[in-house]
Amino acid sequence: MIIDPSKLDSHSVYKLLIGSVVPRPIAWASTLSPEGVPNLAPYSFFTVASRNPPTLCVSVGERPSGEPFPKDTLRNIEETGEFVVNVVSFALSNAMHESSKDHPPGADEFEEAGLTAAPCEVVKVPRVGEASVSMECKLDRVVPIGADNLVLGRMVRFHIRDELYGGTGRIDVAGLDPLGRLAGNYTKVETIFELPLEDL
Ligand SMILES: Cc1cc2nc3c(=O)[nH]c(=O)nc-3n(C[C@H](O)[C@H](O)[C@H](O)COP(=O)(O)O)c2cc1C
Repeated sequence: MIIDPSKLDSHSVYKLLIGSVVPRPIAWASTLSPEGVPNLAPYSFFTVASRNPPTLCVSVGERPSGEPFPKDTLRNIEETGEFVVNVVSFALSNAMHESSKDHPPGADEFEEAGLTAAPCEVVKVPRVGEASVSMECKLDRVVPIGADNLVLGRMVRFHIRDELYGGTGRIDVAGLDPLGRLAGNYTKVETIFELPLEDL
């Protein structure tokens, strides 16, 4: 099967993209509105954009019901120039799911999801206190790509739970237990190995 995406409607292309680019890490993005209301939402169009300077990128799409104004995350990042990427460990899955709901812009999504808004060091935006890893970011630029917007953020602070850092300079990924996004559903990191495998 060979498919030319230009021959499909955009929703069909989206379904093939999210089933092909898997598993995706989830940026659980916290932001602060200009009025000071904390906001939290998951974004799986997310990765590292550069090692040096350390830069993360998150792609924010249109609102699902097609309203002509941006999602709260994008609006807040553009207006305040700051965000935090929190890592979703498996134990926080339900809270992440709760925060993906379309709460009104004035709602404090930390409160709605029963999470602690913990202080950051450089940015005013709170991080998720329950997250094992959080990364403070300063907006580098927003690159519009079609109807989506790619947010690039300079990562200025790591917050890593002590047990996961362990003095080795590496993250204990098994201990982090990150949630991964598939098409519409999710996966856990359950098998970790090195290559080559002898019996493959
Ligand atoms: C696991 C997960 C991943 C998501 N990834 C994205 C994404 O990459 N881009 C996007 O625009 N929306 C994504 N969404 C939808 C947003 O989280 C959702 O539209 C949310 O209400 C946006 O909130 P906000 O207006 O507070 O930013 C995702 C939802 C879930 C549950």
